[in-house]
Amino acid sequence: MRGLFITLEGGDGSGKSTQIRNIEKFFTDKGLAVLHTREPGGPRISEKLRDILLDTENTEMDAVTEMLIYAASRAQHVRETVIPALERGEIVICDRFVDSSIAYQAYGRGLGDMVAEVNRHATGGLSPDITIWLDIDPETGKARASGDKGPDRLDLESTDFHARVREGYRHIAETEPERFKRIDATGTIEEIKEKIYACLEELCRERCI
Ligand code: TYD
Repeated sequence: MRGLFITLEGGDGSGKSTQIRNIEKFFTDKGLAVLHTREPGGPRISEKLRDILLDTENTEMDAVTEMLIYAASRAQHVRETVIPALERGEIVICDRFVDSSIAYQAYGRGLGDMVAEVNRHATGGLSPDITIWLDIDPETGKARASGDKGPDRLDLESTDFHARVREGYRHIAETEPERFKRIDATGTIEEIKEKIYACLEELCRERCI
């Protein structure tokens, strides 16, 4: 049996970490094995690339370099961690995936179609069964963020950059409505959880889980 691949997208203050824990609980309550992972990151090599990507000292990083390192980190993660877990029949819950590269690198940085093309190679064609996008206005999100970890290199980008990122996500939501579910992240934790659970129940029904 092949497992399920579930990804979450959403910026600062969207409540992504809390909702990932809820998604994990949704599946463990059904007695299913869950693997929780993240991008950039996951296996050792990908975590090393993460450090380079998020280091606020790397201000001179070129946009193409950045895009390729995200893709390199992903290529290792997919092959070393995600695919083996799916083949074991596990539920893989990943904090960010290719949609982040489309939003941040293709739209935010303006790199366009090149990003999807490179990522086709990085993922080997693997696509999530469902993606939950916790949408929040970047300014509201920033004000709401708990501040438990400092901003990373991308968080420090301009308001315009973050507006383009959101535009990228909106575009994906329009073109792939079956897979990519927009959820308004301004509600309460409980309201958002209910909406996510409704999407997951539907997916489980479709897959007879
Ligand atoms: P992380 O601390 O995991 O972020 P967050 O809590 O915001 O999810 O840092 C990931 C950062 O990298 C985040 O600012 C988004 C960015 N990013 C990209 O620009 N492209 C990508 O492909 C991915 C996966 C992340």
